[in-house]
Parts: sequence; structure tokens; C-alpha cells
Amino acid sequence: MNIIEIINSRRNIKSFKSDPINMEQISKWLQAGTMAPNHKMTEPWEVFIIGPETRAKLNHKSDFFNAPAVLAVLSKHGSTEVETVENALATACFVQNFNLAAWAEGVGTFWSSMGNAQKNRDIMGVPAGYDVIGVFGVGYPEEINNPKERTPIQEKIKHLS
Ligand SMILES: Cc1cc2nc3c(=O)[nH]c(=O)nc-3n(C[C@H](O)[C@H](O)[C@H](O)COP(=O)(O)O)c2cc1C
Repeated sequence: MNIIEIINSRRNIKSFKSDPINMEQISKWLQAGTMAPNHKMTEPWEVFIIGPETRAKLNHKSDFFNAPAVLAVLSKHGSTEVETVENALATACFVQNFNLAAWAEGVGTFWSSMGNAQKNRDIMGVPAGYDVIGVFGVGYPEEINNPKERTPIQEKIKHLS
């Protein structure tokens, strides 16, 4: 697949096969994540690999759709509000790099925003000064949903004089 095909075919996955994903694979995709743009080279991302005990405590309603691996991506706050926002933006770029690197090798991710709830922050031991950008199930998809239609970009473009 070329880059456009990878981007266009990616889906948020809600049904995973039990085939395992190993740490070497995850590290490779996370390393691709680190090539994300990040202002002032703050490299604000941190990753928690969620083990079985923590996963059970997180108590996601569908147990991350039985994904064989679960990880959380955190973004460190900056020294100003602007830097904190920029760090979160950079970490979102990190996440998308990770998602697309995995997808290019046939592995999908499920993005859950549950991680920032105080209860879940406590379970994961997230220190103050970090946002949890997402908790991700990672695995080979059992099913791939049809694409959710997007508004044609022409409707979102404004040409300024
Ligand atoms: C910041 C963020 C948080 C998200 N949180 C959730 C979530 O809690 N549960 C969920 O099912 N999907 C979540 N998603 C995934 C979106 O629902 C999904 O990307 C969207 O429906 C479009 O589907 P697609 O990614 O398959 O194209 C999240 C996505 C983002 C960017």
C-alpha cells in the first residue's frame, strides 16, 4: 500500500483476532511515532504498556474488544499553556504515526478516551502534569468496518485573498 492507501483504509478497530502482538512489533511502530513533528523538540509522549492486572482494573466495557495488546499514550504538559496544547498536538501526531505504521503491517488499533478519567488515571498511576491522549487496543482485526463518510474537503476550504 502507498501512504494514501494506508491512510484511507485505516479504521478504528472494534473486533480483534487473538493472534499475539509482540513487544518488538509495538516498539517498531512506537519508534515511527517518535518521528512526529514536535515544536521545540519537546518529545512530550510517554507510553504505558498495560499489563493484565491493570487492564482488568481499567474495566473497559468490552475489554478493548479482546485486543491482544493494550497501551496508553500520555502527553507531558509544557511550561506554558501554549506549550501544553502544542505538546498534545505533537502527541496526537505521534499516535497517528503509530496507528499508520501498525496498519501498514495489517495491525489495527482501537482508540479509547477513557484514560483521562481520574479513576483510570489513578489505576494507571499517571503523574500530575500529564494528559492521557488515549488508551489503545492493538491487534490483527477480525473485522474492518466500512469507512465512515467524510465531508468533501472542498466544503472545508476557504480561499483567502
Ligand atoms: C481523541 C480521540 C478519542 C477517541 N475516543 C474514542 C472512544 O472513546 N471510543 C471509540 O469508540 N472511539 C474513539 N475514537 C475513535 C473515533 O470514534 C473514530 O476514529 C471515528 O469514529 C472515525 O472512525 P475511523 O477512525 O474508523 O475512521 C477516538 C478518536 C480520537 C481522535
